[in-house]
Amino acid sequence: MFTSRWSVVFLLFRLFSSVNSSPVPIYTPAPTHPLQISPPTPSPTILPSLPTSSPLSTPPPSPHFSSDPGESAKSVLCPLTVSPSILVVRFKDPVKVNCSVPAMSFSALGWEVSLAKPELTTEHFLVWSVDSMTDWSVKPACFALVEQGGQCQLDLSLIVYKPPDNVSISVDNHTGSMIEGRQYTLLCTVYNVAPVENVTVTFYKEQTPLGQVQSSNTTKTPVTEIFSWNICPKKEDDGVRYWCEAKLELGPEGPQNPPVAISQNLSARVHFGPQFACPTRMWIREGESLGCEVGGNPPPLVIWYKDGEVVDLPSHSNLTHAGKYTVWAEGFLGKKNFTMEVEVLPGSGTANSFNRHFLFGVLLIQTTYWL
Ligand SMILES: *[C@@H]1O[C@H](CO)[C@@H](O)[C@H](O)[C@H]1NC(C)=O
Ligand SMILES: *[C@@H]1O[C@H](CO)[C@@H](O)[C@H](O)[C@H]1NC(C)=O
Ligand SMILES: *[C@@H]1O[C@H](CO)[C@@H](O)[C@H](O)[C@H]1NC(C)=O
Ligand SMILES: *[C@@H]1O[C@H](CO)[C@@H](O)[C@H](O)[C@H]1NC(C)=O
Ligand SMILES: *[C@@H]1O[C@H](CO)[C@@H](O)[C@H](O)[C@H]1NC(C)=O
Ligand SMILES: *[C@@H]1O[C@H](CO)[C@@H](O)[C@H](O)[C@H]1NC(C)=O
Ligand SMILES: *[C@@H]1O[C@H](CO)[C@@H](O)[C@H](O)[C@H]1NC(C)=O
Ligand SMILES: *[C@@H]1O[C@H](CO)[C@@H](O)[C@H](O)[C@H]1NC(C)=O
Repeated sequence: MFTSRWSVVFLLFRLFSSVNSSPVPIYTPAPTHPLQISPPTPSPTILPSLPTSSPLSTPPPSPHFSSDPGESAKSVLCPLTVSPSILVVRFKDPVKVNCSVPAMSFSALGWEVSLAKPELTTEHFLVWSVDSMTDWSVKPACFALVEQGGQCQLDLSLIVYKPPDNVSISVDNHTGSMIEGRQYTLLCTVYNVAPVENVTVTFYKEQTPLGQVQSSNTTKTPVTEIFSWNICPKKEDDGVRYWCEAKLELGPEGPQNPPVAISQNLSARVHFGPQFACPTRMWIREGESLGCEVGGNPPPLVIWYKDGEVVDLPSHSNLTHAGKYTVWAEGFLGKKNFTMEVEVLPGSGTANSFNRHFLFGVLLIQTTYWL
């Protein structure tokens, strides 16, 4: 597939050429741009450091007190427990949370919440329940009125999520084919997802992850966000498919399989050339052929000149074929020419070991070139 993109021009000699030709345009792949390929993210950790998030804590790490002015409540521990302590709920799904208090050291138990607020109770537990969660930023808190006159409160950690409607990939400000070695920006648009800060977008080239990106937007409601990744295509990338994946990582309290949405495939056309893989000097033996490759995508138009005249390359070399050859090519990136000196060695036995030496050199060059 790679080689088929080369218009291979064979001089009809066998190549016994020199290695000392310095400016052989051996293609060296452009340095790969810095890819931060993150290993598959370990399963997300539990929500950190939300003071209210440990379910069984008898005294929650940092209870929240609001007391009457002047009154000291600092010695009162907040004995509230909510179960579950962390709630990850899909938009429009039901919610049920039980807040309880073990001791009888309180006078009333209640929920502070903007949606389906239950009545205060004197029971030792109170359930907050919603049939369909339609509020993106609800911040429920369970509180107890403590007999000393203080109020102790426990905030519930609640994440309302919605998988993206759709994910699509495109190239920033560019249509059509790309040019080898130039930089392009892939854009991955994730439509209507919440919360966007828990979205991880991975860019892929075929099955290879190129890198991951996250959002710093803390909006709780669904947003459409564009994630970007720079690429610098190589000529081998002609025809590869780029795509992206958006994963909503909600941690152990979230759904067993994190919601994932993938984009369509974006097929890259990568144009290049003309590029010459010719030495500046060649030694060939009478009757033999040589090869000099002119690469490009699309394949370039190639014309050979000798002594200023267009030539058909001879099918059998003889001593008259020595001289200066210029190969002229017109490809995607324009017109280029390259001149090389060809020497023809007489006979077939005389320079054998000499020729083998150079043939080996040429094979090396060509091997390197194909890699
Ligand atoms: C709420 O939790 C308390 C204490 O664990 C328990 O006694 C009570 O039965 C629970 N209520 C419901 C409705 O789950
Ligand atoms: C999703 O995105 C693709 C590609 O942009 C588009 O063709 C398709 O119509 C979109 N689907 C929806 C449901 O928006
Ligand atoms: C888009 O590309 C054109 C030319 O390639 C350039 O002039 C223009 O500034 C670019 N626009 C943006 C927004 O990058
Ligand atoms: C987050 O995204 C929303 C919707 O796209 C936008 O209005 C808001 O400005 C963004 N906030 C930040 C901090 O970028
Ligand atoms: C969701 O994103 C926030 C902000 O990046 C992070 O603190 C939290 O741990 C994430 N939640 C999960 C379950 O990964
Ligand atoms: C993208 O291409 C791959 C490889 O051919 C294929 O398996 C996959 O289904 C394609 N994805 C889409 C969304 O068409
Ligand atoms: C060299 O080859 C050319 C054809 O490519 C032929 O016309 C010419 O006569 C040959 N010369 C000798 C000396 O054999
Ligand atoms: C070959 O390239 C040189 C410059 O590199 C240019 O001056 C010359 O005209 C070119 N020759 C042909 C035949 O295109």
